[in-house]
Amino acid sequence: MKPGKLTLPELAAMKSRGEKIVMVTAYDAPGARLAEQAGIDILLVGDTAGMVVLGHEGTVPVTMEEMLFLTRTVARTAQRPLVVGDMPFGSYHVSDEDAVRNAIRFVKEADADVVKLEGAGPSLSRVQAIVSAGIGVMGHVGLTPQSETILGGFKTQGRTASKARQLLADALALEAAGCFAIVLEAVPVPVAARITESLTVPTIGIGAGAACDGQVLVYHDLLGLTEGRAPRFVKRYANLADEIRRALTTYADEVRSGVYPAEEHTYPMPADELELFSQSVLTDGQAVDRRSQTDARAKLARPDTGTASGASAEGVEHAHGDR
Ligand code: KIV
Repeated sequence: MKPGKLTLPELAAMKSRGEKIVMVTAYDAPGARLAEQAGIDILLVGDTAGMVVLGHEGTVPVTMEEMLFLTRTVARTAQRPLVVGDMPFGSYHVSDEDAVRNAIRFVKEADADVVKLEGAGPSLSRVQAIVSAGIGVMGHVGLTPQSETILGGFKTQGRTASKARQLLADALALEAAGCFAIVLEAVPVPVAARITESLTVPTIGIGAGAACDGQVLVYHDLLGLTEGRAPRFVKRYANLADEIRRALTTYADEVRSGVYPAEEHTYPMPADELELFSQSVLTDGQAVDRRSQTDARAKLARPDTGTASGASAEGVEHAHGDR
């Protein structure tokens, strides 16, 4: 473990003290660096990467290899924040053994501190198995995007009394299975509040209101890198898409008009070295010139090459002009 790393007992203590936990997704080294400098507690290398980085419509197509690659870049950079590797669809759905094997890959190959997986029910034995292998697990209930099709899309969960009871039961079961924290996504505020007070481990809300012990947002959403209609819970703290587009447009204009690069973007050369360089190029140029003339004369002396003497001279001219 890196020195100064936020530990799981410290996270639990934050809940006891009523100190809010701040989590954001991160998918690369600059994102991890900036988030750490901003004092973020937890970096989730979320499978939302599928949508905001990899260009998919949802999270289901994301592979283990892609998640390991992204997690590695974040873990390499982050010192204090806890780095959570999000287990992608299919990496824990088949068996407990598979889940443990893939969780170990996150820790061993990508240097994640802990992993996250979605759902309760069949995920409970996965959580138990991974925790037994010595790896911390963050749970995730409510809107679980990997089950988008079964849930009927990205929709609020737990809006009926029976579904809310089920959510509470799922969260309690995940805590009993060994989760150190649980993400509540797109859950009505009173339900999230009830779950939060019923659990001893922290809840991290996304679209679940302020009663949760912490909050998470997707990096690209909060910075305004994603465009179009955002989910209701997203607050844009910046509009980087506009800023980036403006910068790229100006760059393109300046390259095309010759404004960029200006002298200050270029490397100078000592005047004496430049003089030597110019002289030597001139000398080389004369040598090349002489070689070309010799070649042309040789061709003229050998008409059997099939080249007319006039055309040959033109060819020499042309080749010379090309240099
Ligand atoms: O993958 C992800 O980014 C997530 C958050 C939205 C909680 O699971």
